[in-house]
Amino acid sequence: MSDLQERIENIEKEFLERISSCENSSDLENIRIHYLSRNGILNSEILKNLSQLSKDDRPVIGGLANKLKKKLELLLKEKKDAFSSEIGSSKVDLDLTLPGRRSFIGKLHPLTLTMNRIKEIFVDMGFSIAEGPDIETEYYNFDSLNFPQNHPAKDMHDTFYLEDGKLLRTHTSPVQIRLMEKKKPPLRYIMPGKVYRCDSDVSHSLMFNQVEGLVIGENVNFSHLKYVLHEFARAIFHKDAEVRFRPSYFPFTEPSAEVDITCVICKGKGCRVCKNTGWIEILGAGMVDPNVFKSVGIDPEKYTGYAFGMGVERIAMLVYSIDDIRLFFENNLEFTKQFS
Ligand code: DAH
Repeated sequence: MSDLQERIENIEKEFLERISSCENSSDLENIRIHYLSRNGILNSEILKNLSQLSKDDRPVIGGLANKLKKKLELLLKEKKDAFSSEIGSSKVDLDLTLPGRRSFIGKLHPLTLTMNRIKEIFVDMGFSIAEGPDIETEYYNFDSLNFPQNHPAKDMHDTFYLEDGKLLRTHTSPVQIRLMEKKKPPLRYIMPGKVYRCDSDVSHSLMFNQVEGLVIGENVNFSHLKYVLHEFARAIFHKDAEVRFRPSYFPFTEPSAEVDITCVICKGKGCRVCKNTGWIEILGAGMVDPNVFKSVGIDPEKYTGYAFGMGVERIAMLVYSIDDIRLFFENNLEFTKQFS
């Protein structure tokens, strides 16, 4: 018998003795490392030296060593299984006085909560939900919405332009166009989504969320818009919330309005948040401009419609009294876990 053959037999004997007296899984792991790891005995004393053996000896010793390796692995596994089935019995080192590990239950982000609530309110009023792409073309984001070629919103200071004339949408209004291209009136939709603008401070963030609304039918008029937005304000803020429409301008609506609600902090009395006016602006709205209908082939003599667009962060800040928009995006658990 060659020296190596004898060594293989001795390794096996030694291993069997050690494993039979092994009493816990950390000792078992030490045994595994000693015999079977990369620098363990089987590798360093036998397998690594195979190349130095004669052509005749190499397969014999190699075969024996591999057979032993398999046997040791099997014995280790059997022992390990035996230990794990004994957990709870006195044979295992188990310290029952150790404190348990607490598991934390996740919570929805305040923006998700606000978005869900907005959707729920409009769905209850009979609206459906549609979505569009974050990456848009100038046509959908501006031109089809009746923006003139030289409108300041098209400036690089406001819009993130991508390659090939693409851009990150600056508002959810392009989804109106995509919807009207696909579906015939009557339509009653909200369109939630992320939008992007080159602007960042306590009340602006490079990415934020909007919810767009669009209702088209044969006799849709401004009073329908007022009713729906008043119902929305009462549902999301306060049952006594009032809305106020101020004349404004958007290229895609005519007439256009900015819509205020009674200040949620002072209930209309005047405070720092509403700059003593008693009102807070929450969205833009108006009657769909006939030029927009023309760009999608809807007859403006037959149909009328209203549209609105609101910032979700702004609404969440009012609902939860948050004074810095950046808190939403810092992923600080101490902040995000406060909301339900
Ligand atoms: N798209 C506008 C913005 O991002 C918001 C807006 C105003 C949307 C009036 C509308 C609307 O649908 O009718 O500032």
